[in-house]
Amino acid sequence: MTTSEPERTQVAIVGAGPAGLLLARLLEAAGISSVVLEARTRDYVERRLRAGVLEQGTVNCLREAGVGDRMDREGLVHTGLELRFEGEGHRIPLAELTNGPGVVVYGQQEVVKDLIAARSDSGLPLHFEVEDVALHDLDSDSPRVTYAQDGEHRELRCDFVAGCDGFHGVSRASVPERSRQIYAREYPFAWLGILASVAPSTEELIYAYHEHGFALHSMRSPTVSRFYLQCEPGADLADWPDERIWEELNLRLSGSDGLSIHSGPVIEKGITPMRSFVLEPMQHGRLFLAGDAAHIVPPTGAKGMNLAAADVQVLAAALGDFYAHADEAGLTGYSDKALRRVWRAEHFSWWMTSMLHRFPDHDGFADRLQLSQLRYVCSSRPAATVLAENYVGLEVT
Ligand code: APR
Ligand code: PHB
Repeated sequence: MTTSEPERTQVAIVGAGPAGLLLARLLEAAGISSVVLEARTRDYVERRLRAGVLEQGTVNCLREAGVGDRMDREGLVHTGLELRFEGEGHRIPLAELTNGPGVVVYGQQEVVKDLIAARSDSGLPLHFEVEDVALHDLDSDSPRVTYAQDGEHRELRCDFVAGCDGFHGVSRASVPERSRQIYAREYPFAWLGILASVAPSTEELIYAYHEHGFALHSMRSPTVSRFYLQCEPGADLADWPDERIWEELNLRLSGSDGLSIHSGPVIEKGITPMRSFVLEPMQHGRLFLAGDAAHIVPPTGAKGMNLAAADVQVLAAALGDFYAHADEAGLTGYSDKALRRVWRAEHFSWWMTSMLHRFPDHDGFADRLQLSQLRYVCSSRPAATVLAENYVGLEVT
């Protein structure tokens, strides 16, 4: 393999998911140079199916970053959601309880497509299909990232590295064990998710607690629906033919209102593990972790992408202060500041998950506590407001 001349940038960004791409965009606006390195192909990154609920703060950030036009045209504004249990639906009026606009349903891969298109329009470096990414000299003022691309060894010299490479990336592993703490929970279930080309059977999302397990009815557009079913952690897709999925969705989402779920061609099917994970601190020397590289939430609270967006807003502002005013306070405080929001989302996602799923080890006592909690959230305005504030992502830590 040949070795090319070292390249130089201010911030090396590892990973082109929402965290890395949005950070690159925010840095561009602040006049800070960056190079984004992504292991997968553009096509893969743009198709990867993930969650799709945007908090208002994320929506505003995307708009301000000049990448909100398609989201504003195609995103679905939701002013409420429904909790369903014991065969009854209960609406949580998110917008009314928080005096805000609610949330926007817009797929994560659409956000990723918009950010990639913007980067490419700006003609700024975003390298796909890079291999063997390794981080070096993170304790110095001039770290380096080495990688391979098109049969060449390459080196990127920079001032800072942003580790935005998700849960399975290399960045987190570059933090020495003695310098970090991990806090984690595994859940005794997973989600089976499908995307189907069929009109949603509901206008707002339905989160259902049922004796067979949790179910969620979400959507992507007036003609595309997204569903999830609680399943065993080691479930095999072969045991979930489409007919069984539709049957189970109809059962778990059924109610006294006679809701019936329209079935249609299944475009995608997959299993998502459920875990909570936080690495502290989110910084080591000149390496700053953001998004799934630093933390994971179970998807029940729809927080994953919003947290990634919140992290990089804090990081971009800190880097802006560093370059514009030689002020390092934001960088020094990055981890503490980001972690306050991370832990609020960790708690909320754990709480929603605990409230809405069937736990294999639950006895009658635990089941009754769960139902009582659900009834309380749906009948007390302050309790519903707790859910609403967290769901829409108000700045409360
Ligand atoms: N080198 C370069 N890129 C890498 C490497 C590597 N060694 N390892 C992983 N990547 C890339 C992945 O291919 C992916 O495109 O890093 C990117 C990380 O993106 P995401 O996993 O989407 O993570 P993040 O940007 O933090 O976004 C968090 O994604 O998983 C969801 O629910 C989560 O919605 C949340 C969001
Ligand atoms: C989704 O639409 O994919 C979705 C919505 C809400 C969640 C999780 C996923 O809580």
